[in-house]
Amino acid sequence: MLRSIFVRQPLLLVLGVCLLASPEARHQPLLVQAGPWTGSSALPVPAQDGGQRAARQRQIAPVCSDADWLTRPERDETEQPEKVLDALKIPEGAAVADVGAGVGYFTWRLAKRVGPKGRVIAEDLQPKMLELLEENLKKRNVTNVELVLGTRDDPRLPEGALDLALLVDVYHELSEPEAMMRHIRRALKPGGRLVLIEYRKEDPSIPILPLHKMSVAEARAEIEPLGFKFQQALEFLPMQHILIFTSKPASKQAVSACCLPVLSGAAPGISAERLPAPFPLRRAA
Ligand SMILES: C[S@@+](CC[C@H](N)C(=O)[O-])C[C@H]1O[C@@H](n2cnc3c(N)ncnc32)[C@H](O)[C@@H]1O
Repeated sequence: MLRSIFVRQPLLLVLGVCLLASPEARHQPLLVQAGPWTGSSALPVPAQDGGQRAARQRQIAPVCSDADWLTRPERDETEQPEKVLDALKIPEGAAVADVGAGVGYFTWRLAKRVGPKGRVIAEDLQPKMLELLEENLKKRNVTNVELVLGTRDDPRLPEGALDLALLVDVYHELSEPEAMMRHIRRALKPGGRLVLIEYRKEDPSIPILPLHKMSVAEARAEIEPLGFKFQQALEFLPMQHILIFTSKPASKQAVSACCLPVLSGAAPGISAERLPAPFPLRRAA
């Protein structure tokens, strides 16, 4: 029965493999907050830092470690990466981060868009993904990308440096979404954009496990309380939303309450292994 579902729905098969085969899938707790997916009981609760924790009514997906899935031949047709980047109107010279970059499906395209005067940071928490990404960049002679090995709650991005943070099929996998979004917000310039691309949960006919989909309402409910303003949802892709947010200025209280890890000295082409560790800690004023 399962076999026949997967034969008819190849996307389900691959995502099933991600779910069952990766070590993270086996070891990571899937349910991070009590409450049914469709329930209305998970209201925002005050966080310890005086901010507001996002309302989350979904299960967090396991981290995908299937590199072949990220370069599947039909991906260009269904995810239309060039059309996505056209729609985002990324100017030459822009500073962008590909957060959860995987093997770099979007990274090298971003690097071409921003050109030699721009800056691209490709971040992921799996060293293996960054190794493959680096190979991909070499094959394509792309040199204007900095690789950053992040952690589950900190993408280790430079503060106030980015025009855009792009997360393609990543947000639903973040095991610590609030912490990640706080760091990303600090990494953005004032008014910088956060863009999430996620499979539409609103459409049950899209052959992806619900765990790997997000609705617009769900994303807004989680992201907006974290200091982002929702700008628009672009809906031209066959299966995914493109959700655009901008960062609001951080409140004095939120900024002064914490230590901000910053990436210093990262040069173009630096590999994850060569990054200084531990990262220097700078206390915010
Ligand atoms: C489905 S893949 C998408 C990869 C890439 N964005 C793409 O579109 O090809 C999700 C990626 O997010 C990464 N990821 C998951 N949680 C993360 C976290 N907390 N920090 C950084 N990367 C993360 C995974 O390692 C994986 O490479």
